[in-house]
Amino acid sequence: MDVLPTHKSKSLIIDCDPGIDDAVALLLAMASPQLDILGITTVAGNVSIETTSTNARSICELGQRTALKIFPGCPRPMVRKPIIAAHVHGENGLGGIRFPKPQMPLQQKHGVDFLRDSLLQSTTPITLATLGPLTNIATAIVQAPQMVQTLERIVMMGGAAGAGNVSGAAEFNFYADPHAAQVVLQTAAEYEIPVTVIPLDVTHRAIATPPRRQALRDLHNPIADTIATMLDNYGLREQRDMGLSGPPLHDPCVIAYLLQPELFVTESVPATIEVASPLTQGRLVIDYDGELDLPGRIDLATGINAEGFYGLLTEALKSFG
Ligand code: RIB
Ligand code: CA
Repeated sequence: MDVLPTHKSKSLIIDCDPGIDDAVALLLAMASPQLDILGITTVAGNVSIETTSTNARSICELGQRTALKIFPGCPRPMVRKPIIAAHVHGENGLGGIRFPKPQMPLQQKHGVDFLRDSLLQSTTPITLATLGPLTNIATAIVQAPQMVQTLERIVMMGGAAGAGNVSGAAEFNFYADPHAAQVVLQTAAEYEIPVTVIPLDVTHRAIATPPRRQALRDLHNPIADTIATMLDNYGLREQRDMGLSGPPLHDPCVIAYLLQPELFVTESVPATIEVASPLTQGRLVIDYDGELDLPGRIDLATGINAEGFYGLLTEALKSFG
């Protein structure tokens, strides 16, 4: 395999709602020295804020990165009533796998305060990876919109150009807090901050098939084994409904994009989020023909080299050996 160019180190903040695929994304980031993780913020989404925060600590301990700082964020969306996805990720959010009670601390500082203060105070660009509902980011933006000027790029998992996975129209992260998603996209457009959106249409092509899960087990390291076991019980409904041969790895695509953007195909399109319609709330509205006169454009992922993605993931996880 060609030696891919080593990308320069990126200062990174990860906002997440672990969540099985969030856990894999966090471990991929921890295994990648090109990523300088400044902090992890947690948000209510797949499961409650208490559980996503506990899970983030458990995953950092699993990845032997207990010096990482985890900041608990918002416990509920900005406007709509809360929803969770425990039926997808298990009641404990990690596929029912029991981890030791985490010992590493949870920061006292609120995730929104960490995001706002980090971006306002930084003198160098920061990349933001969002793996869950965008409540924390939007709340920080409402407090200090100028903070986004420090962002090099926001890379988010969310949306769908085709069918959603919560309603026919909407994907979970945007459905769980549509107003937050709209605030983030609108503010990024206003300040001309690049945004990459990796939708279900792409993540549903990043399937953890049995051979790919076996390749993780063949690494014979406890972290790769744990990931394979989590994936054995993840996204079973999606697999059944869509005839997939394994669970789609949504959130790790965000980290893979940061590491090797060449694994993805993107298209610049005007886009916004539907917030008003009770039928399509949370829908990523892509204005291909420019008829809506939207303020900004996103880089929408439209393709993925799935073999290259799993090669990256498997190679990175070797480092835990
Ligand atoms: O729709 C998939 C997204 O919703 C992923 O981020 C998953 O973790 C859930 O948060
Ligand atoms: Ca997530």
